[in-house]
Amino acid sequence: EADLESKLPLKGKKILITAGPTYEAIDPVRFIGNHSSGKMGFDIANEAANLGARVILVAGPTHYKAKNSSVEVINVVSAQEMYDACHLHYKDVDVAIAAAAVADYKPKVVALQKIKKAADDFTIELEKTKDILASLGAIKKNQFLIGFALETENEIENAKLKIQKKNLDLIVLNSLQDEGAGFKKETNKVTFIDKDFKIEPMELKSKEFVAVDILNKVISHFVKA
Ligand code: CTP
Ligand code: CA
Repeated sequence: EADLESKLPLKGKKILITAGPTYEAIDPVRFIGNHSSGKMGFDIANEAANLGARVILVAGPTHYKAKNSSVEVINVVSAQEMYDACHLHYKDVDVAIAAAAVADYKPKVVALQKIKKAADDFTIELEKTKDILASLGAIKKNQFLIGFALETENEIENAKLKIQKKNLDLIVLNSLQDEGAGFKKETNKVTFIDKDFKIEPMELKSKEFVAVDILNKVISHFVKA
C-alpha cells in the first residue's frame, strides 16, 4: 500500500506517538517523575512528519519542541492525562508508538495543601497508574502498535513478555547496560523484536537514526499490507 519510491512514503497515514516522562502529583508543589528527556519520541514524531504522516504527539513535561511544525502536539502532565489524550485519538490512527516513560505508580491521594515537614519518617502510599500501551493493545483493530521496553536483566525474555501482554506488533528494546544508550543521551542501542519474536539487534546510533529505523519498520509493514 505504501509507496517506497515516494519521498513521502507515510503520506495518508496517521500516527499517534507518546513521548517524555509523566509527573504524578504528591501535593501542589511536588511530584514523582523520571529523567526521560522526551527526545526519542520527538525525533520519531519529526521524522514521521518528514515522511508525510499526520502526527499526533502526546508529550509529557519536556523542553523539546517539534521541529516539523505539522506535528500536532498535545501537552499532558500525568499518566491519566496521557491515557485520556491517547484514547481520544487512537481509533483514528494507523500506527501508535509508545515512547513515553510513563510513571508506573502515583500517589494514592494528592494532598490539597503543601505537605508540611513534621515527623522524621514519612511514607507516601502509591498505586499503579493505567498501562496506556496495554490498554491500546487490548482494543487494537488495524493499528500497527509499537512499544518500547527498558530492561536491565533478562532483556529479550522480558521484552517478549511485553509484546504478548500488551498485544504489540513490534517492540524496541532499549538496553541501559550499553555505554551510550538511554536517558539523557543523544544515542541509543536498540534491538527490534517483532510479534513473531524475530530479533534484530541494531548498531549504536543517534536517536534521530533510531527514529529512521523505527519508521522504516512502519513503512515495510504498509508495503506488506
Ligand atoms: N507504558 C505505558 N503506560 C504505562 C507504562 C508503560 O504506555 N503505565 C509503555 C511505555 O511507553 C513503553 C512500554 O509500555 O512503550 C513498556 O514500558 P516499560 O516501563 O519498559 O514496561 P512496564 O510495562 O511499565 O513494566 P516494567 O517497568 O515493570 O518493566
Ligand atoms: Ca515501567
